Amino acid sequence: TRYQKGVRHLCENGITSVPRKYILPVSDRPNLNERQNLHDLNLKLPIIDFAQLQGPERSQVLKNLAKACEEYGFFQVTNHGIPMGVIQKMIDACKRFFDLPFEDRAKYMSADMSAPVRYGTSFNQKNDGVFCWRDFLKLVCNPLSDVLPYWPTSPADLREAAVTYSQQAKFLYIKLVEAVLESLGLVGTTMKEDEDNVWKEFQDGSHLMVVNCYPSCPQPDLTLGMPPHSDYGFLTILLQDEVEGLQIQSQGKWVTVEPLPNSFVVNVGDHLEIFSNGRYKSVLHRVLVNSSKSRMSVASLHSFGFDRVVRPSSKLVDEANPRRYKDTDFSSFLEYVSSCEPKRKNFLESRK
Ligand code: SIN
Ligand code: FE2
Repeated sequence: TRYQKGVRHLCENGITSVPRKYILPVSDRPNLNERQNLHDLNLKLPIIDFAQLQGPERSQVLKNLAKACEEYGFFQVTNHGIPMGVIQKMIDACKRFFDLPFEDRAKYMSADMSAPVRYGTSFNQKNDGVFCWRDFLKLVCNPLSDVLPYWPTSPADLREAAVTYSQQAKFLYIKLVEAVLESLGLVGTTMKEDEDNVWKEFQDGSHLMVVNCYPSCPQPDLTLGMPPHSDYGFLTILLQDEVEGLQIQSQGKWVTVEPLPNSFVVNVGDHLEIFSNGRYKSVLHRVLVNSSKSRMSVASLHSFGFDRVVRPSSKLVDEANPRRYKDTDFSSFLEYVSSCEPKRKNFLESRK
């Protein structure tokens, strides 16, 4: 075929070493030895108790939220209200998708970055100089009635599981946006006349889900499940299984996020950093693979509509806080992505 078959396929064929295409230059490899020697490089992210956020403790939780977004760009959400059954069905159906024969998955391969469904490996096979150890299924989630006919029909329960999960994730996103805006001092008295518009924009914003499958890897020190990147959108809500792998950059070091059962990892994306005029940080993160366990994650990426120009909120810019980012939109992002081959740099840096 025209396409690489991906890492699931390699593993099914019992490879015992990492093919050259996946081997990172020495300077970009993860230093796994360093990790094993330093237990303190595991990080417990700040926890936001979603139930408390809805209760009398809200103002304290909002302060913790602000601090997490300023210092780490990441937090974990507990008591989020999404039923365990919904999450389990999603994970389970996705696992069975990756278990399908390659030919059934291959139907969804596409070079079109904006296709409503895209199965693939690495990021973008055309551009990636070195491949990463990851296969993925990307599902565009809105407008649902337009995209649903393209979603996979096998496994038979995938669509239903993914629709239910995506609706719950969207609901959680909207509640988190409310909290984020409030923590920035942007809701209530200051917004008034634009408030309705603002909510509509978030409600109608873009929503993608990316299901990541990172099979176990015979030489995890030579490659990465995902190279360092920041997320393009406003907020990402990440569901991960019990296998660790996500690392974030904190004070110049790569630190591993310990998975917390029954929680979501949420991170600030480039759009929120720009919108907050730099107060909240869109932080670099990457994914390690390991030699014994395969790992799966589902990232729900939320942002404004694709035609929206993103700029710092006028309420957060004044003489003491001059504007720190240029206007940006989706077409500048696409231009950027297609020009930064082979090494993926940070889009955000180009908007300062
Ligand atoms: C991502 O950065 O989008 C995925 C992270 C993960 O798989 O943990
Ligand atoms: Fe990411």
